[in-house]
Amino acid sequence: MERIIETPLGNIILRPQKLEDVPFVEAYLFDSDPEFLESIGFKLSALSDRNDFRSKIENRIKNTAEGEIPVQIIAEFEGRAISHTWLEIGEGVKNAHFHIYEENLRGKGLGVLILKSALEMLMDAHKVQKLYIEPKADNVRMIRLLEKCGFKNIGPSVYKNPQVGELEATKFEVCI
Ligand SMILES: CC(C)(COP(=O)(O)OP(=O)(O)OC[C@H]1O[C@@H](n2cnc3c(N)ncnc32)[C@H](O)[C@@H]1OP(=O)(O)O)[C@@H](O)C(=O)NCCC(=O)NCCS
Repeated sequence: MERIIETPLGNIILRPQKLEDVPFVEAYLFDSDPEFLESIGFKLSALSDRNDFRSKIENRIKNTAEGEIPVQIIAEFEGRAISHTWLEIGEGVKNAHFHIYEENLRGKGLGVLILKSALEMLMDAHKVQKLYIEPKADNVRMIRLLEKCGFKNIGPSVYKNPQVGELEATKFEVCI
């Protein structure tokens, strides 16, 4: 499960998450400006301790069974993880989440290219025909990105998740 996409900055590899990716997502969640994280909907008090977070993710990757279909696609650029697309599948829940970790890689047009391809890979592998993406209602950048991807805005919603609590969101439908 791997794809190479051409972008204005060079080739990016889309692939399942590996142990070596963990420091990059950890730095994104624990070293980013807290105001920025709250502005995109994270409830910082709900984030676990940094060491717990690291071991949880590392254990999840180590315990992935052979042949298990991943729920997370990492974008690798110049040898490092720069973004993840996560498919959240639960009872009655099919949502996706998307982040570009480094500030200076945002606003360069990578979002559309990575998100569309990563969602195709995940939805195809999990045989999901329809899912939702629910950015915080004032995350204009993500909303604009989803519009640029051609996904359908189906209006205001309340997104619930332990990491964010209840979030006033704008709901987008993604179909393949
Ligand atoms: C949101 C995010 C994924 C967007 O990806 P990106 O590659 O940076 O997207 P771009 O900035 O190139 O494109 C998004 C569009 O939003 C526009 N935009 C950027 N900042 C904006 C702002 N403050 N207000 C309005 N529009 C804005 C851009 O101009 C662009 O539209 P255009 O091409 O029509 O000009 C990325 O910025 C990111 O990872 N942010 C932090 C994580 C996040 O918010 N994730 C969503 C959680 S649900």
